[in-house]
Amino acid sequence: MILKIAVLSGDGIGPEVTKQSIKVLKSLGKKFNHKIELESGLVGAVAIDKYNDPYPDETHQICLNSDAILFGAIGDPKYDNDPKAKVRPEQGLLKMRKKLGLYANLRPTKVFESLLDMSPIKEERISGTDILFVRELTGGIYFGERGRRDNDNFAFDTCEYNRDEIIRIAKIGFEYAQKRSSKLCCVDKANVLETSRLWRETVQSMEKNYPNIEVSYEFVDAVAMRLVQWPNSYDVLITSNLFGDILTDEASVISGSMGLMPSASVGSENALYEPIHGSYPEAAGKNIANPIASILSLSMMLDHSFNLKKESEIINNAVEESLRNKYVTPDLSSDKSSLSTDQVGDYIVDFIEKNYRI
Ligand code: IPM
Ligand code: MG
Repeated sequence: MILKIAVLSGDGIGPEVTKQSIKVLKSLGKKFNHKIELESGLVGAVAIDKYNDPYPDETHQICLNSDAILFGAIGDPKYDNDPKAKVRPEQGLLKMRKKLGLYANLRPTKVFESLLDMSPIKEERISGTDILFVRELTGGIYFGERGRRDNDNFAFDTCEYNRDEIIRIAKIGFEYAQKRSSKLCCVDKANVLETSRLWRETVQSMEKNYPNIEVSYEFVDAVAMRLVQWPNSYDVLITSNLFGDILTDEASVISGSMGLMPSASVGSENALYEPIHGSYPEAAGKNIANPIASILSLSMMLDHSFNLKKESEIINNAVEESLRNKYVTPDLSSDKSSLSTDQVGDYIVDFIEKNYRI
């Protein structure tokens, strides 16, 4: 099979962790006889430096010409402390999501049994946690009307949703619930927000098409609380852009490190895979960042975009093996025996090469 992949490593630790995924991809390509065609593009602060645009047209074309996109991270501290900066790296990510129509963000949160003691939450509360967040990604307050008035003394952001945007995201949620444990939770703030009431009404009207799915409706503040109390009580959650942004960061630490969590952003034409962590500038260039979130994002890509179930499973097994044997980066190690980013990548490649002969 030919796998045509756009590689947008971005800023900070993005390039280091993406490099590990590419190593894994090339090794699987050799093993399974896939032809890997990679094309790199600039995005984020590195793209601003060169083009004054965090998501330049050149990069967009590379994405359009590929079957899937592997993304690293974006963000640079030189923009964070300047609220007046006209162009910001994060705008690149938002522009990319919108222009590629990536309306659904899938963020699985799973605990690894070998890392239960790394979690800030008690083991008995998190054991068995396996959640899938389906976050709406191209609407809501992120993309509504915004601005300033009254001589800059008043600012507003508007949350907007139409029924079709809710239907398409809910459909993904229902379909995943069908493949998993048949439980779907719609997370909103319907006691206050009109957009949330439209979410609830729309999801309710779809229930009859999925009679075997048990649907619950919960307020986002209550979910934020229950996620740390009883995370293993949830299965598939669907929610709006901002609520999903916040809840998925909260949920990502349940497993012990944000450096483990992959994600997929999908639309009807394109799909992009990225770790949920950010650019972690303090670690950039130090070879200490955890590459597993990126490697698991690659696994999601092989599964979702290319239907290569076996290859995807091999990656997941190799990752579990490295965690079980504590071949991990410093974020997951309480002693001094931790490995570098490159070494964890090498371990996973080695494990695949030694254990899977075809
Ligand atoms: C994420 C990030 C982005 C978001 C930022 C970098 C714009 O936090 O992917 O969750 O808010 O969506
Ligand atoms: Mg976020």
